[in-house]
Order: sequence, then C-alpha cells, then structure tokens
Amino acid sequence: MLILGIETSCDETAAAVVKDGKEILSSIISSQVDIHSKYGGVVPELACRNHIENLPFVIKQALDEAKVNMLALDGLAVTVGPGLIGALLIGVNTAKGIAYSLKKPLIPVNHLEGHLLSIFLEDKHPEFPFIALIISGGHTDLYLVEDFTEYKVIGRTRDDAVGESFDKVARMLDLGYPGGPIIERTAKNGISNNINFPRPMLVRGNFDFSFSGLKTSVRNFLANNGKEINKANVAAEFQEAVLDILSFKAFQAVENSGCKNLVVAGGVAANNFLRENLIKTAEKKKMNIYFPRHDLCTDNAAMIACAGYYRYTRKAKEQNGFMDYLELDACANLKV
Ligand code: KG4
Ligand code: ZN
Repeated sequence: MLILGIETSCDETAAAVVKDGKEILSSIISSQVDIHSKYGGVVPELACRNHIENLPFVIKQALDEAKVNMLALDGLAVTVGPGLIGALLIGVNTAKGIAYSLKKPLIPVNHLEGHLLSIFLEDKHPEFPFIALIISGGHTDLYLVEDFTEYKVIGRTRDDAVGESFDKVARMLDLGYPGGPIIERTAKNGISNNINFPRPMLVRGNFDFSFSGLKTSVRNFLANNGKEINKANVAAEFQEAVLDILSFKAFQAVENSGCKNLVVAGGVAANNFLRENLIKTAEKKKMNIYFPRHDLCTDNAAMIACAGYYRYTRKAKEQNGFMDYLELDACANLKV
C-alpha cells in the first residue's frame, strides 16, 4: 500500500511516500529555519507563505524520488493538527484537492500520532504495550500505547514544552534559533556541577511535567550573574536538569505500567546527550528503550504517512473508507 504523507504543521514543508507503513521510498523536508531564525522563532504568516510556495514542489519531488505516479497512490495522509492553523490548512487543502481529483482516500493524521508511530519506520521497534515520551517544540507528553490507534495520555506538561524551553533558554543566552541543537553543541564545552537549577515536580505517582520554573531559574541566574556567566556551563546544567526530569518521569511511567518498553520521539529526542544518558539508565534498569533515527525525530512527512497507513488499515470501515474528504478540517489544538 502506497501512502503520500503531507506535513505542514509548523515550519517544515514535508512530503513522503511510504510503502506499507514501513518502507520510506522518499522523504522530502524543506526547512524554513533560515527564514525564521532572524526573528528568534516561527512567524506564522511567513510559515504559511512559504508552505504555499514550496508544497507543490516538495510533493512532486517526493513522488519523483519514490518513482511513484500519483495514480498509483492508495491514499494520502495529512497532518490536521495540532499546529499553526494557517500552516495546517495549506497542507489539508492541498491534500483535499489531490485526493478529490484522484478519488483516493484522504486520511487525517494527528501530528503527535505521527511522532508516536515514527518508531515503526525503524527495523528495531517495540512490541505493544509501550510507554512513549513525546518531546517536541509544542509538547511534552507521556502515553501508554496499547496498539496502533489506541493511546492513553498518562502525563503532560502543565506549562512550557521541553523543546520550547530549549528554544527560550538559547534565546536568553543569545545563541540563536532553533535552540535545541545549539544548546546541545554549546553544552559540550561546559560543566554542569557549579550551577544548580531546579528539577520541578519530581514526585512519585505524578506523571506531569513543568518546565517554566526551570526556564525562570535560568533567567534569574543570568540576571544575577551578569557578564560573568559561562554560557557553556549554563547550557550544560540546563540540559542536565532536563535529563533528570525526563528520566525520572519516563522510567517511573514504565515501571508503573508493568511493561518494559520505552519509546522516545519528537524533535528533542534528536539530542545525543539525552539519548546516550537515557540509554544508559534503561540498561541499568533492564528496560528496552527505542529512539527513531535523528531525521525521524524532527518533523517529517514519513511519520505522517506511517501513522496514516495504520489509521487506514484499522479504521477505514468505520470512516467510510476515508472518502468524505470535503468535510475534513484542520484543528490547531487537536488532542490525541
Ligand atoms: O518535533 P519537532 O521537530 O517539531 C514540533 O513538533 O514541535 O520539534 C522541534 C523542537 C524544537 O524546540 C527544537 O529546538 C527541538 O525540537 N530540538 C532539539 C534538538 N533538535 C531539535 N532539542 C534538543 N536537542 C536537539 N538536538
Ligand atoms: Zn513535531
């Protein structure tokens, strides 16, 4: 089964062709980072204009690289939320137009479901059930994943997402955008043990997160220490605090669930410091941990095609074969 995935929820214009939910025939990502970096974050209006300009070419390139004719597609999967509403609508309406003209199924996909299932694009993936920690620019969520399309939220951030706090701390340190990769690089030259940022909400039995206090402590530290600060040390201690919080919550959730498997996905899961340390802890605890490869952690359309495949194969009957495309709409704060 050949699915064309389309992703435009934020600042990546992406399209991919995936066979049987597993084999990536092509995955094209046109990043807008250079456009937004001078503003220190994503400017929704600019994101929309660039999606409109680039999406047709990105889709064509995805089909060409996969050597797939549009007529050979079995369906289209498109991100319908959560994300920037204008940006989402460009992907949704483009997909609607193509699906309608070809009379092919149009499968709505939740962006977070894409991150949750991105691990199934890898050869090494867990059996059900597993705990998934989704760490991205907009979300920090823990799920119990019982099957494809069967997810239970067991915890989430009460304020900032972890990726957002990476971006904000990078901005405070005047390091640039997006903050995650820059903080990771900067932290390599730093030592964490001469500063002490808080690790909020580390209480057993609670699976929610809070990152705004950590961010505020960094701000206060910078205000109190002025020009004396060593940016690398601040970045290193910030990253160490994030690791402690994520590790405590995720492994506690695995223990509590009775299963042995943890999947970590979303843009922040591309961070090698976090990956290496979470792997070490999983080994100590005799748990299995899985990360998608780096380019499947950050936003991409292969994960949307993959999630679309599983949604189609599980839900097509109850969804009228996903042929009611004209009614499909985007939703900025769509829940899993
Ligand atoms: O999943 P994603 O690409 O988009 C959303 O769905 O939000 O995640 C983007 C987030 C950004 O906040 C970015 O700073 C963060 O992921 N990120 C990282 C790294 N690479 C991207 N954070 C920490 N370390 C990284 N290497
Ligand atoms: Zn994402």
